[in-house]
Amino acid sequence: MAPAHVAIIMDGNGRWAKARGLPRVMGHRAGVEALRQVVRDAPGLGIEWLTVYAFSSENWARPQGEVADLMGLLKLFIRRDLAELHRNGVRIRIIGERTALAPDIRALLDDAEVLTAGNRSLNLVIAFNYGAREEITRTLRHLATEVAAGRLAPEAIDEALISRSLDTAGMPDPDLVIRTSGEMRLSNFLTWQCAYSELVFLPVLWPDFSKTHLEDALASFAGRERRYGGRPAAREAAS
Ligand code: IPE
Ligand code: IPE
Ligand code: MG
Repeated sequence: MAPAHVAIIMDGNGRWAKARGLPRVMGHRAGVEALRQVVRDAPGLGIEWLTVYAFSSENWARPQGEVADLMGLLKLFIRRDLAELHRNGVRIRIIGERTALAPDIRALLDDAEVLTAGNRSLNLVIAFNYGAREEITRTLRHLATEVAAGRLAPEAIDEALISRSLDTAGMPDPDLVIRTSGEMRLSNFLTWQCAYSELVFLPVLWPDFSKTHLEDALASFAGRERRYGGRPAAREAAS
């Protein structure tokens, strides 16, 4: 069965550019093209939720010029593609810390969410200035404030309440996480939500990612057995 929610760590733009003797920004630009294509391909492959890691809370550590390029590309992506995404029934949501972003970016993100709120063909979740530890810390601070104010009993804090309080409130957990570029780590991506996700690491650099790679990842996923701590289905039947 196709995974309902696929999350992608889009990595390798810098190496793609370097291999061609190009500035890094060209790799990021090519990466946006790969993203546009995946968004077009996803609904036809049975994917209902697509989350993409576009800028991490740690990516501020990059040189100022590169950070500015990445901010500029997000703006360009929303400005250029919003109308088409909306026409195609894509609902856009953003996760991550928004107050640190420039006011014009925040306004664009807010507008994109409001405009597409009623769409149903694909949920596109953009993780921007997102870090799982930052998200969890911010959420815990909020819950602690509620407890201190007497509006929340400590006993009422359970896994469901935490899930409902994170940026991903109301979204299903990712079934499949794909990371490109050969790195095999999560880099602070959706730590809580990925507790039982299947992970697929592909050597392809993100700008070269195509529908075939997505299909390969879905085929790997189809061969996995998700046990959630229980017993393998075959052995269960035998005993
Ligand atoms: C991914 O590509 C894009 C972001 C992290 C924003 P990188 O820029 O990390 O590319 P590499 O890992 O240096 O090749
Ligand atoms: C993860 O990639 C973040 C995004 C893809 C946005 P990085 O390139 O920043 O991750 P590390 O530094 O290699 O772990
Ligand atoms: Mg990288």
